[in-house]
Amino acid sequence: MEKGVRIADLFRNEHGYVGKTALVQGWVRTKRDSKAGVSFIEVNDGSCLKSLQVIAEPDRGDYSGLLNKITTGSAILAEGTISESPGKGQSIELRAERIHLYGWADPALYPLQKKRHSFEYLRQIAHLRPRTNTIGAAARVRSRLSYAIHQFFQDLGFHYIHTPIITASNCEGAGEIFRVTTLDPAHPGASESEEAYRNDFFARPAFLTVSGQLQAEIYALALGTVYTFGPTFRAENSNTSRHLAEFWMVEPEMAFYDLEDDIDLAQTFIKKLVGVVLNDCREELEFFARFIEPELMGRLQTVAESAFEVIAYTEAVDILKKSAEQFTFPVEWGLDLQAEHERHLTERVFKKPVVIVNFPRSLKPFYMRVNDDERTVAAMDILVPGTGEIIGGSQREERLEMLLEQMRLKGISIDDYRWYIELREFGSVPHSGFGLGLERLVQFVTGIPNIREVIPFPRTPGHAEF
Ligand code: 4AD
Ligand code: MG
Repeated sequence: MEKGVRIADLFRNEHGYVGKTALVQGWVRTKRDSKAGVSFIEVNDGSCLKSLQVIAEPDRGDYSGLLNKITTGSAILAEGTISESPGKGQSIELRAERIHLYGWADPALYPLQKKRHSFEYLRQIAHLRPRTNTIGAAARVRSRLSYAIHQFFQDLGFHYIHTPIITASNCEGAGEIFRVTTLDPAHPGASESEEAYRNDFFARPAFLTVSGQLQAEIYALALGTVYTFGPTFRAENSNTSRHLAEFWMVEPEMAFYDLEDDIDLAQTFIKKLVGVVLNDCREELEFFARFIEPELMGRLQTVAESAFEVIAYTEAVDILKKSAEQFTFPVEWGLDLQAEHERHLTERVFKKPVVIVNFPRSLKPFYMRVNDDERTVAAMDILVPGTGEIIGGSQREERLEMLLEQMRLKGISIDDYRWYIELREFGSVPHSGFGLGLERLVQFVTGIPNIREVIPFPRTPGHAEF
């Protein structure tokens, strides 16, 4: 099969291509015909935002019979000479000597028009929405960030661990878990009774993982520093712009790290990732700054340059209580911080990322290390302007007695977590880790307001098409 040059590479070295022949393959964004019989075809191949203008002059090639079939959405090949473009807004163009039509798109039916479509509409045509500027650009940024995440940890000598998707544990302790079963829900035997589970595939209740952390801890206490990076699932029935039922999380876990080391690593990590997109995804960021979030570049620069503010939960509550702002949700020691509180701290008070540490014990899962005050745990949440929480992490409870007490208090079955407890019985060490939500990160670096737009196929309550 013929293979051409990626349009991104053409533009990257445009002067080098002038006067030379090039072959491109992609999808037609628009076609305009002049009175003189010349057609101007915008071709986009998904390698970058910019489209290449193809000039079709019927006397230059034998494609005149094809031109009326070249419609928006059609897939074509164009081969010809690259020349400097006299037109405004583009540097080079391709004067076609040969055009091939791979697949036609019926203009009466093709769902993407030149006008801007709403994101809600695009979600209904998820098989075509990556052909739009915003969704395509978000997909490229997501890809670059995923690679940068691996690079960051591999460069530091962390080992990549594949933690299970199907698990019997519920790391975060919240009720929002998806069950995995082969029992027929219509069958009367599929109740919660032990008898019913005996007939189920795993012969016990099983779930889709909410976090790979507990299993990552096993490997951290053997290989030292590890990370897991994969899909996680939460049946949160909250239809917000920050929650998905299926999202990707990267979770490093480090032996011999305390909370301070954990925060330092997380901060270095975020700065590094922001630096990578500022450097490698310039075209996309400029597009997002222009059409989606005018404050984007300023926000990213701030994150790349300034030290994050670290404050205790108690201090955060004091600041919020003293604030003149009218919040919808109450602020009280012992209550969770809501999105509006997070935004107030990052966007009004500190105007940069804020790390909140030492949350009340009652608000956080059983595995977090209890502080000397016995009221709080060594937890940290990292909040960024615009998006709110992007990282949640903690130092883990490495002391056997304290872990057992936490489990008793929170009503967690010792039998179900025998393996996790044994890590504290045989060669336990202080250790820490955190989880970064990939979609929250992509939201932050692109300024895209709704999390559904930064994942190819969003899963939310009532939605699992495609
Ligand atoms: O704060 P969370 O719940 O922490 C954990 O799961 C820990 N086990 C992580 C660890 O210490 N290894 O989730 C971590 C991050 C959040 O800060 C957020 O970025 C993202 O995961 N997240 C979600 N992203 C999209 N949709 C959801 N429903 C999310 N829930 C959490
Ligand atoms: Mg959290």
